[in-house]
Amino acid sequence: MKGKTGTTMGRTELKKVVVAGGTGLVGHHLVQALVERKALVAVVSRKPALAKLPKGAEAYGWKDLPALLEGADAVFNLAGEGLADKRWSPDRKEAILSSRTESTRRIVEALKWVAQKPPVLVNASAIGFYNADGQSLQEENAKPGKDFLAQVCDAWEKEADAVTGKGIRLVKLRLGVVLAREGGALPRMAQPVRLFLGCPLGDGRQGFSWIHIADLVDLLLEAASNINYEGAINATAPKPISHRAFMEALARRLHRPLWPLPSICTRWPLKLLLGEMAEPMLLRGAYVYPKKALALGFHFTYTRSEEALEDLL
Ligand SMILES: NC(=O)c1ccc[n+]([C@@H]2O[C@H](COP(=O)([O-])OP(=O)(O)OC[C@H]3O[C@@H](n4cnc5c(N)ncnc54)[C@H](OP(=O)(O)O)[C@@H]3O)[C@@H](O)[C@H]2O)c1
Repeated sequence: MKGKTGTTMGRTELKKVVVAGGTGLVGHHLVQALVERKALVAVVSRKPALAKLPKGAEAYGWKDLPALLEGADAVFNLAGEGLADKRWSPDRKEAILSSRTESTRRIVEALKWVAQKPPVLVNASAIGFYNADGQSLQEENAKPGKDFLAQVCDAWEKEADAVTGKGIRLVKLRLGVVLAREGGALPRMAQPVRLFLGCPLGDGRQGFSWIHIADLVDLLLEAASNINYEGAINATAPKPISHRAFMEALARRLHRPLWPLPSICTRWPLKLLLGEMAEPMLLRGAYVYPKKALALGFHFTYTRSEEALEDLL
């Protein structure tokens, strides 16, 4: 990658950027936005030859990482096995954890050998970090929860922490449920509603902390560019709602009914169908508040789920 790096007025200019895991849902949107801003974008993938990228971005293998990082303005790390792609067998849980800790470690290790280091690493994390029981708002200073997802997020963030004190600003963005048209949670949640089969899961009171993909891309870019962004930052819309309230908004948007089933009618079938992942992924949820992003002046375009759904569906 050729190009010049630079910082002006407390902001890092994103001219050369590395995006690990940039072939996925979030990466695709981020890379598109970077290319539109005329950045040189190198996407790090396990299968670079198969990567479908926007024009202007190039795919590389993980072995190329040290060379790509040389003189880059920012590195984003979004890599990790899909959380909801398969049932959580012990092997699957190991893959979910190690794909995140090892990819982060590879970046941290590679950075040690880079002469002109990127000034910032924006590492994905998730709101699975928080204790997902109860109704209290979770801000960035909350302690991690105790379940598997919380342990994964905590271990993932601790790997990234190894860059602190090495002249690299670290932002750990704790992503909420990303709402996008073409993938992730929204199409999966909308499908049964479209088929007149929608109902809230469990008692519906669990928190549903979401973010519109457009706001997430803006936040990722701001986190990389603005030197005041540092440490753990929640990437969720400012008004977290209950799962039931989100499903009601979804049903209204799709002009479909929502069946008010008793909790037991969904809880046990989901547990039988999905096993261990049913509780942390669907039946529990945290109310997460983006205190730091708001304090830093970040403007969310989509603050209400109705607005996000209107745009996306
Ligand atoms: N989407 C959400 O709602 C959400 C919510 C919270 C947190 N997050 C986190 O944010 C990150 C990006 O989310 P996303 O929705 O864009 O995820 P995604 O669509 O699943 O993409 C993740 C990328 O990670 C790479 N990857 C998968 N398994 C890997 C492995 N074993 N080793 C190294 N790389 C691997 C893949 O790239 P290659 O196949 O090209 O290598 C994939 O494109 C993820 O870490 C995710 O956990 C997402």
